[in-house]
Amino acid sequence: MSFRDIQTQNDVRLYQKRLTDNYLDRPEIMNHIVQQIEQLGTENPTVAELCIGPGQLAESLCNNIPKIDYIGLDFIQPFLDFTAAKLSVDGEFVCADLTGTEWPNLLKGASKTGQIDVIVSMQSLHDVGDADQIASIYTKCQSLLGEEGLFINADLITQEGDEANARPGRLTVPHHLELLQAAGYTTTGCTHRTAQFGVCFGSNK
Ligand SMILES: C[S@@+](CC[C@H](N)C(=O)[O-])C[C@H]1O[C@@H](n2cnc3c(N)ncnc32)[C@H](O)[C@@H]1O
Repeated sequence: MSFRDIQTQNDVRLYQKRLTDNYLDRPEIMNHIVQQIEQLGTENPTVAELCIGPGQLAESLCNNIPKIDYIGLDFIQPFLDFTAAKLSVDGEFVCADLTGTEWPNLLKGASKTGQIDVIVSMQSLHDVGDADQIASIYTKCQSLLGEEGLFINADLITQEGDEANARPGRLTVPHHLELLQAAGYTTTGCTHRTAQFGVCFGSNK
């Protein structure tokens, strides 16, 4: 089942099971993302997640980061409803398409302070589009974040040398880092990788 076929809450449950069963690195990646945000030491951070799907990362973030203000974005409303119903805190939810132009302002409007400290995404941007599309999202996030803001993208990657067989949005870690640098972040890097995932960041600090 593709996310585009999701209509009911039961569809979301089935989709979540497929992610859990097929991508065994996911718990490790979620723990790593939580640690990266904890290390910032920001009290009461506003964290926006792009493409939340069934909300597994949302749950990890909200259960482990004290005083988090969570904002979740996706373009499939049943994912937003499913996640809102299970979170331990009251999040804000934005239904928007990342290939459009509205979403940065919608995220800003959903922030209680008007500022976003962290933007995170997991296993998703390769589904949104190709390298140009990902580059455009990286640039928009860099502008949206505050001076100390942190962007983290944990996505399925192509291993270096396999580029010829790769699908358009599945980039190598060096390619992600090149796009993050071009987007204007002060510091970029890859903090973790597995056979399936690379976790890359751009920081405005
Ligand atoms: C593979 S799922 C991953 C969901 C979640 N991040 C996780 O790891 O469990 C990909 C998600 O990206 C969302 N998505 C794909 N294209 C999108 C777009 N153009 N705008 C907003 N969300 C999009 C889908 O609705 C889906 O929730």
